[in-house]
Amino acid sequence: MTAVDSPEDTALASVPTAWEQFPFPFVADQYRYSTNVEPARRPVATPVGRWGTPLVAVDEHYRTELDERAAILAADPSRHAVLPHMRPAAWDACLTLLGELAAAVPHLASLTPVGARGEGRWHWRNDLTGDDLTFTYGDDASLPDEPLRWVCGQVQEDVVLLDQREQLYGDAGVVTFAADWSFGFDVGMSFLEIHGPVPRIHEEGVITRAHDFLMRLQPHAPYRRTNWTLTVGRRLDVATERYHEWGPDRELVQRVDDETFGRLVHLRVEVQHLVRLPDSGAVMFLIRTHLQPLEAIARVEPWRSRAAEVLAELPEDMADYKGIIKYRDRAAAWLRAAGEQ
Ligand code: HEM
Repeated sequence: MTAVDSPEDTALASVPTAWEQFPFPFVADQYRYSTNVEPARRPVATPVGRWGTPLVAVDEHYRTELDERAAILAADPSRHAVLPHMRPAAWDACLTLLGELAAAVPHLASLTPVGARGEGRWHWRNDLTGDDLTFTYGDDASLPDEPLRWVCGQVQEDVVLLDQREQLYGDAGVVTFAADWSFGFDVGMSFLEIHGPVPRIHEEGVITRAHDFLMRLQPHAPYRRTNWTLTVGRRLDVATERYHEWGPDRELVQRVDDETFGRLVHLRVEVQHLVRLPDSGAVMFLIRTHLQPLEAIARVEPWRSRAAEVLAELPEDMADYKGIIKYRDRAAAWLRAAGEQ
C-alpha cells in the first residue's frame, strides 16, 4: 500500500478487473436484433476471465464511476426521477440491490437484519464507500437521500424501474450513463414508446415479444441480455443532453492516426438485467456499461476477428441508429489490419 492509497482503494484491489469481467457480446460473425434474453447468474468463461455470476458487477472503476454519477446528478437533476406511485418500488429496488452487492462482494459489504423480525431495520456496511449505517425499510428519513438515488451511489449500474399496469411504464430511475438517449425525456413512457426510435424491432415483433416476456417475469428468476455500440473515448455519459460535448468526436475520430484511433474507439457493452421486484411487483432494469478500446479487443484473437466481421457486415440502418455509421468501416478495417501485424 502506498501513502496515497485509502482503505477503499485497497479493498478494490481484491475484485476482478474490468478487463477480466469484460462481457464480449458477439456470439456470431453477424449481429441482428433479437429478444436475446437468458437466465441471469450463469457464469460465462471468456479467453481473459469470466463474467455473469452477480447481478451487480464491481471492478476497479467503482469509485471513479460513482463519483462521476454523483457529479452528473448534481449538475443535472433530470437524470433521476421517482414518480410518486413508485416510492414502494424505489425501496424494493434499494433493498434488492444492497443484497445483490453484498452477495457479489461478501468480503467488502454486508446487509444484516437488525432487531426483531418484522421491524424492517437493516444494517448496511460497505468497505468500498466507507458506509456503515442502520435504516428502516420504507422510512425515507432513515437514509441520507431518496432510496433509489442513494442506492445508485452503491452500485455501478444504472437503474430504470417499470410499473406494470396494462403495459409497462418507465416511471422511475437513475440513469447517468445513457448511450445516446435521454432518461429525462423517456420517464413516464410505456416500454413500446421508449423503444419507438429503434429500427427493425417493431416490424420484426422483437419488442412486443420482449414486452410479453417482461409482463410474465417472476420474482427470484432474473434474466439478462447484452446490448452494444461504439463510443469515442472512455466516456460513460453519452446522454442526449450532452450531445454537444461528445457528438463532434464522431467526426474528429475519422481524422486521427491509426494508433490514436485504436486507443480512442471503444467497444461499449451493456449487461442488462431484468428483475421482478418481490414486494412492489415492479420490473427493475439494470444497465451496466463496460468499455474497452479496440486496441485491447485486438489482443484477443477471437474477439478481434469476430468484432471486425460484425462491424463490416452491420446493415446501414442499424449502424446509423447506433450513431457509428461514420466510423464503423474504419473500425472494421482497423481490427482486420491488427490481425495482419
Ligand atoms: C427483453 C427486454 C428488452 C429488449 C429485447 C430490448 C431491445 C432493445 C434494442 C434492440 C435496442 C436498440 C439498441 C441499439 O441499437 O443499440 C434497445 C434500445 C433501448 N432500450 Fe431496450 N430492450 C429491452 C428492455 C428494455 C427495458 C426494460 C428498457 C427500460 C427503460 C429499455 C430501454 C431502452 C432504451 C432507452 C433504448 C434506446 C432507445 C433510444 O435510442 O431512444 N430496454 N432496446
